[in-house]
Amino acid sequence: MCLPEENKSCKVRRKQNSSEEMVRLGRLWMSLLPFGFLLFFSSAFIRVPGALAWSKEGHVMTCQIAQALLEPEASEAVYQLLPDYVKGNLSSLCIWPDQIRHWYKYRWTSPLHFIDTPDNACSFQYSRDCHDSHGVEDMCVAGAVKNFTSQLMHYKEGTSDRRYNMTEALLFLSHFMGDIHQPMHVGFTTDEGGNTIELHWFRHKSNLHHVWDREIILTALADYYDKDVSLLLQDIERNYTDGIWSDDITSWKHCNDISQCVNNWAKESIQIACKWGYEGVEAGATLADDYFDSRVPFVMKRIAQGGIRLAMILNKVFADSEERFATAT
Ligand SMILES: *[C@@H]1O[C@H](CO)[C@@H](O)[C@H](O)[C@H]1NC(C)=O
Ligand SMILES: *[C@@H]1O[C@H](CO)[C@@H](O)[C@H](O)[C@H]1NC(C)=O
Ligand SMILES: *[C@@H]1O[C@H](CO)[C@@H](O)[C@H](O)[C@H]1NC(C)=O
Ligand SMILES: *[C@@H]1O[C@H](CO)[C@@H](O)[C@H](O)[C@H]1NC(C)=O
Ligand SMILES: [Zn+2]
Repeated sequence: MCLPEENKSCKVRRKQNSSEEMVRLGRLWMSLLPFGFLLFFSSAFIRVPGALAWSKEGHVMTCQIAQALLEPEASEAVYQLLPDYVKGNLSSLCIWPDQIRHWYKYRWTSPLHFIDTPDNACSFQYSRDCHDSHGVEDMCVAGAVKNFTSQLMHYKEGTSDRRYNMTEALLFLSHFMGDIHQPMHVGFTTDEGGNTIELHWFRHKSNLHHVWDREIILTALADYYDKDVSLLLQDIERNYTDGIWSDDITSWKHCNDISQCVNNWAKESIQIACKWGYEGVEAGATLADDYFDSRVPFVMKRIAQGGIRLAMILNKVFADSEERFATAT
């Protein structure tokens, strides 16, 4: 029972109660699901402003598209690598790398979600651009995709002298294939891939990076898909099986040398970022219908490409030797 003049202590008490509850809930999750706990913990307590990632929805769709395209060998390997409690559902862990990137143990992964290219250059060069803010080479999303692809290539050699955690390699690869396809993840250095360009999305505050991570997807879901991600996913799948992209899928999947492919995918992203992301957008602008209508096709296409190419990599990596990549770093 709380009297008005006790308001203050009531508030405190309520807070304590709810935090006790959080702790209890947290313990429960931790005991049940190690990965799930991470998801719960970070989504409930840590709000990272302008987090650098496709939204949950973007990553989930990319991974669902990929998993549906796996050949039996890759499908089996993925199943074996995933922890039991996700029951073989890759997409439920595809945002794990966003959840752990601020943890001390995983701080090294933080620069692996994006690439900063020179302002207005609208190009990507691996040797020039793929490094972290201290200049350490390969520490960018293009380097990460190569890294975890080559780690997974050792999966078939068995467990005897594995240097790397193959489960983590699978989750990182699956996540970073989403990130490298998000155009604003290969953006300009000064504005941090659009993160510092604050603006309005329709009537609420946002920033340019977030518009491409999430706002466009959420608006599409609300306007056309009754807020149901599975309906949007079906539409995307239809469009690459017998719709607008069905003739393009072979060229999307084409890849002999993973290093070259990764460079091409990053180039595609920065070119879309320049032409469709940054173009005509100033800080303080209000983006609405015109921007949404003209950009939503790119967002959907990038989600599809990310998923199809992730499947391509996993199919090659886990396949019999003759179908595998000739080279990997
Ligand atoms: C797999 O996980 C995703 C993300 O949590 C979820 O949206 C989807 O419904 C799950 N799929 C199945 C078949 O459970
Ligand atoms: C590759 O992965 C290992 C750990 O698995 C890590 O130490 C290294 O920094 C990673 N490099 C890149 C470019 O991802
Ligand atoms: C691999 O990493 C996952 C997630 O961090 C962890 O739960 C698992 O125990 C690790 N496996 C091995 C063999 O170290
Ligand atoms: C699928 O293609 C149709 C045109 O045939 C288009 O109207 C629709 O927006 C596309 N959907 C997605 C999610 O790309
Ligand atoms: Zn990310």
